[in-house]
Amino acid sequence: MKAKDFINSMMKPLKFYSKEGSKEADLQKIAAQEQKQFSYETLSKATDKFHPSHKLGEGGFGPVFKGKLVDGREIAVKMLSQNSRQGQKEFINEAKLLARVQHRNVVNLFGYCTHGDDKLLVYEYVSNESVDKLLFKPDRRQMLDWKKRYEIISGVAKGLLYLHEDSHSCIIHRDIKASNILLDDKWVPKIADFGMARLFPEDQTHVNTRVAGTNGYMAPEYVMHGHLSVKADVFSFGVLMLELISGQRNSSYNLTLDAENLLEWAYKQFKKGKCVDVLDQSIATTSVDEQVALCVQIGLLCTQSDPTLRPTMRRVVVLLSKKPTNLEEPTRPGFPGSRYRKPRHPGASSSNTASSTAKTDSTTSTMTVTATTNPRSLGSDLRGKRPLE
Ligand SMILES: Nc1ncnc2c1ncn2[C@@H]1O[C@H](COP(=O)(O)OP(=O)(O)O)[C@@H](O)[C@H]1O
Ligand SMILES: [Mg+2]
Repeated sequence: MKAKDFINSMMKPLKFYSKEGSKEADLQKIAAQEQKQFSYETLSKATDKFHPSHKLGEGGFGPVFKGKLVDGREIAVKMLSQNSRQGQKEFINEAKLLARVQHRNVVNLFGYCTHGDDKLLVYEYVSNESVDKLLFKPDRRQMLDWKKRYEIISGVAKGLLYLHEDSHSCIIHRDIKASNILLDDKWVPKIADFGMARLFPEDQTHVNTRVAGTNGYMAPEYVMHGHLSVKADVFSFGVLMLELISGQRNSSYNLTLDAENLLEWAYKQFKKGKCVDVLDQSIATTSVDEQVALCVQIGLLCTQSDPTLRPTMRRVVVLLSKKPTNLEEPTRPGFPGSRYRKPRHPGASSSNTASSTAKTDSTTSTMTVTATTNPRSLGSDLRGKRPLE
């Protein structure tokens, strides 16, 4: 009996602490959720009043600043450009939803801020910079050996699959590209800038800016007809994949290589059975040829003109995780201005464009964005020049 009493008396304080402890944890949880809204003063202080020296870059949606919160957390603050027509309430609702997105391969969104007409998003700062800052720099590209590039490809595929299928609602990224893939201190890739399609609903300006200065990542049906679906992301992912393999930007492709763009050149190598030649020669010694060949083929499957022929991200993840046998041959890649034939859909018009199929693709939810600029009137600009900077 004595022993039991003793144990009981020992348990009491323990019970007491654990109860209190869980209460505290609950409160902390609630507080953390509440803290998703940042005050403008906090962010201004964290970024030294948005000082130009803190600017990490400026993309189509507005500038990004590096900052540090009083609690020591490093952040990246994105100021959304004012032409978003979304009201404040809708913005806050969307930002709250996006702050719930949690995946190893997606940048953490800490919260948001509204200040007058300004809308800001607060992300975790990811320390090893974006993929473009390594991949396209001759003196740094070797830091990304084949193993790292393969892991980046697999990680981004998983992150994108999560956004498309496993998050609370389907999130079409709309802007997958090398500068939106960040690397953390362990080289884990993280997708940045997700959710813009939700924060800028039916935003014509965005499409038009991009159409005017096509960046080489946009699916033809999106550029030409404003049809946005998960398959537009799959296309951009395919371009990113081929860039990671070759170390070349699709948007500033070297025309001396006897092809219109990187996609077409890779397609030619594939047809000749020389997939391994697509690999960036500066990392050739680190190559795993079998993986390179598989990635080239998957990249080409993702960049086919016909969105219905492109695999879903789920399939891409499966293909990357096992050695597939009998992988189908890709059809010619699509790029803005190109037209495709649909060899596998008998009865279809041969000059059909992607728009008619995007709507009927059962695996996708399609949003229509009206692109008012006629891409054809932009002439040669379509093949990958960035806007004047
Ligand atoms: N969370 C972040 N952590 C670290 N760097 C970031 C983060 N978000 C963005 N950046 C950097 O800021 C740059 C500019 O971002 P952004 O305005 O989205 O333009 P873009 O992606 O078109 O280059 C990115 O290229 C990236 O290098
Ligand atoms: Mg970005």
